[in-house]
Amino acid sequence: MYQIYPRSFHDSNGDGIGDLNGIRQQLGYLSWLGIDALWLSPIFPSPMRDFGYDVANYVEIDPVFGTLRDFDDLISEAHDLGIRVLLDWIPNHTSSDHSWFVDARSSRESERRDWYVWRDAKPDGSLPNNWIRAWSDESVWTWDHETEQYYLHCFLPSQPDLNWENVEVRTALHETLRFWLDRGVDGFRMDVVHLIGKELDADDPEELRALSHTPLNDVAVTHEYLREIRAVIDDYPGDRVSVGEVYLFDPERVSAYYGHQDELHLCFNFSSLFTGWRAEAWLALILRTESAMSAAQAWPTWVMSNHDNARVATRLGGDQARVRAALVLLLTLRGTPFLYAGEELGLQDALIDPDQAVDPGGRDGCRAPLPWTTGSDHGWPVEPWLPFAADAAARSVEAQQSDECSTLRFAKRLLELRHQSVALRRGELLAAHTQGDLLVFERVVDAQRTRVVVNFSKDNLAFNVVDGAIVLSSALDAQPGVIRAGEALVIALARA
Ligand code: NOJ
Repeated sequence: MYQIYPRSFHDSNGDGIGDLNGIRQQLGYLSWLGIDALWLSPIFPSPMRDFGYDVANYVEIDPVFGTLRDFDDLISEAHDLGIRVLLDWIPNHTSSDHSWFVDARSSRESERRDWYVWRDAKPDGSLPNNWIRAWSDESVWTWDHETEQYYLHCFLPSQPDLNWENVEVRTALHETLRFWLDRGVDGFRMDVVHLIGKELDADDPEELRALSHTPLNDVAVTHEYLREIRAVIDDYPGDRVSVGEVYLFDPERVSAYYGHQDELHLCFNFSSLFTGWRAEAWLALILRTESAMSAAQAWPTWVMSNHDNARVATRLGGDQARVRAALVLLLTLRGTPFLYAGEELGLQDALIDPDQAVDPGGRDGCRAPLPWTTGSDHGWPVEPWLPFAADAAARSVEAQQSDECSTLRFAKRLLELRHQSVALRRGELLAAHTQGDLLVFERVVDAQRTRVVVNFSKDNLAFNVVDGAIVLSSALDAQPGVIRAGEALVIALARA
């Protein structure tokens, strides 16, 4: 799965913001690279205070991205190339500009008042609970002066939370899924979907409040709502998929959101974004993920970068050897890999001057525009909405497509290998262990057995392959008898 942040992908109409026709124009590139599916970050009408994660209409396209017609063309051209398309669905909150909220806010008697979460102040005048909203140390409650009640928003005050207890809300949200499923989308990434059920009377523990409420919310009723959502998706033919952003950091808790094959098909596993580049730390993460997912009969996912966190290349200090090794982990561990646009280029975050910053959550750096060409405009018709990363020329698609030894060409080879290998796609993960700074695991299915070895140290280490043949090395200057600093090897083994 390849994540596109549409504003930053490719600009077809010269307004400095990427758009749907820009994505269409690059389908050839994506097909060449060898990805199977696209997930588009939000493209719906929005005041863009959270760049589309504040939806003002769930069943239209924001004019900055194009039209419904452009969207239909994108889907049909992607499908012709064998590429599936997932949308980003934002069920927890809308924009305060959404007509539902405008109506809800207009009076306590309004028809849609109960579509959002309203509370009186407590008798002593204090807030309804102690939850903290995202990206701040402020409350999730904002006082509405007109109607004299608080409304709930786990993110910005301009992102009011919907009231999922209200069956009309659930039905209306289901309708939005059907709208896009009818148009042929292959599924949805579901934004903070673990947050839709809430226990408003339960205060957060004092010592954890600084995290904000979002990663702490984990209540039983959400699972009922997820089963209803799954039933909507299962009504459709073909393999439609739901991928939940379950923003909890404990794989055991995350695994519960798969239900018994009746909730989410897949959930993100974000711990990898915060795991240091050490063999022991990765082994612990892999073993913990495997054990939690196997116990729940759930299929894992892996992610190294996304639009909310520093890119993996930045976390690894721009060291391309390690970036290639991280790509090997992403694409050989057991589970569905999510590749964030630009990760195949080994692209780093842009440095953002304070006067260029636009995101309320400070995430502009990892959202910098994709560099297509080496020239100073990097293939963008006008200056884009955010600055380019400092390494944009060297990391551009143009520079790397023509360089046999580039990270991009390596990513393409790795994707080819994964497509050819049942063991890498579906095999069990076995024999995971470390040997000093080497992380080793095997992927095994019937007649195929593949070993992956990653050197996490800064040194070249003596290493001999005695029981198989190297099918891929991430090092540009691989040598027999040595595994180089940062090198990752994929080895085909004789069946034991
Ligand atoms: C998670 C999304 O990934 C993030 O970008 C967004 O700001 C929040 N959810 C709120 O929708």
